[in-house]
Amino acid sequence: MSEQTANRKREHIDVINRDPMVDRQQHFFDAIQLQHRALPEIDLQDVDSSVTVMGKRLSFPLLISSMTGGDDELVQKVNRHLAEAAQITGVAMGLGSQRVMLEQQEAIASFQVREFAPDILLLGNLGAVQLNNGVTPEQVRGMLEAVQADALFLHLNPLQEAVQPEGDTNFAGLAKRIGELQASLDVPVVLKEVGAGLSVPDIELGLAQGIKWFDVAGRGGTSWARIEQHRRKDDSELGFTLQDWGIPTPVAMRQARPYMDQANFIASGGLRNGLDLVKSVIIGGCLGGVAKPLLAPAMESTEAVVAAIESLKKEFVTAMFLLSVQNVEDLRLNDALLMPPGTWG
Ligand SMILES: Cc1cc2nc3c(=O)[nH]c(=O)nc-3n(C[C@H](O)[C@H](O)[C@H](O)COP(=O)(O)O)c2cc1C
Repeated sequence: MSEQTANRKREHIDVINRDPMVDRQQHFFDAIQLQHRALPEIDLQDVDSSVTVMGKRLSFPLLISSMTGGDDELVQKVNRHLAEAAQITGVAMGLGSQRVMLEQQEAIASFQVREFAPDILLLGNLGAVQLNNGVTPEQVRGMLEAVQADALFLHLNPLQEAVQPEGDTNFAGLAKRIGELQASLDVPVVLKEVGAGLSVPDIELGLAQGIKWFDVAGRGGTSWARIEQHRRKDDSELGFTLQDWGIPTPVAMRQARPYMDQANFIASGGLRNGLDLVKSVIIGGCLGGVAKPLLAPAMESTEAVVAAIESLKKEFVTAMFLLSVQNVEDLRLNDALLMPPGTWG
């Protein structure tokens, strides 16, 4: 069992490297058009992209979305490179699922990235369905303390589990357990999907359980149905049929808007450049998350991840300048920065 969890992480990375179409490249953010300013009346040098999230200062609102962890040399290297780059560039980082820590002592080291990233906003990670498999709030608290995380990503991945050959599909009664977990933790639980999006009823269930943070992790980028299809041994096409199932990220954010005065939202899933990140903040995100595009640089080196993040930042800051916006707070929910839907484009 424990070895299965660890191997699975490595298999996922191998599949992603083999099949470029697991990144669905649907570019839903392209449908959002920004209002160019020819006379921005600000100096590019004065654009301030920094933000404070959960009490931590970030150089710009980027989250390295949860990817990996475990007792595998490649996986350890990936996490170290991501963490070092997050510290150098001043961005947030989510760890991959820490479930393997409960099963394999040796896996713990790969999640202990605080020594490389003492100052970053760091989020732990666990599949919510594990709360139906006997994982207790005490164990979760221990997992978070072991990595000195500031918050917990609790991922909801029913599509992935349904396609995964050995998937855990008992999602019955999970909302109540999520509420019990949040009540027993001192840090916020952030409910996230993994690429199929959170819907309004999902958000309402979370809010009713005291959840104040959501990462919509919508459709448009990495498809877990397609990844798990490659691991199926039968001849069904379930994962291919469902590879584009889910709520596009900008749609999930728009649907979440009525709830943005009660809770905080992160936009992720298919963000592929700094413009997608600016649009994510305009439509209400306090952070934008990127996973897959940072995997290849993370397999290479810390410097490669830093370079990828610096590119995203340059695009983000340039877009702020061209929108005539000096501070990130002035981006948030500022509809005047968007061209009305249906205009020439
Ligand atoms: C290699 C890889 C591993 C991932 N592992 C996890 C995980 O352990 N836990 C989790 O919540 N999400 C995981 N995800 C999902 C991402 O956090 C993110 O929600 C999703 O990939 C969509 O973002 P993207 O389109 O930028 O890749 C993983 C993604 C990738 C690419």
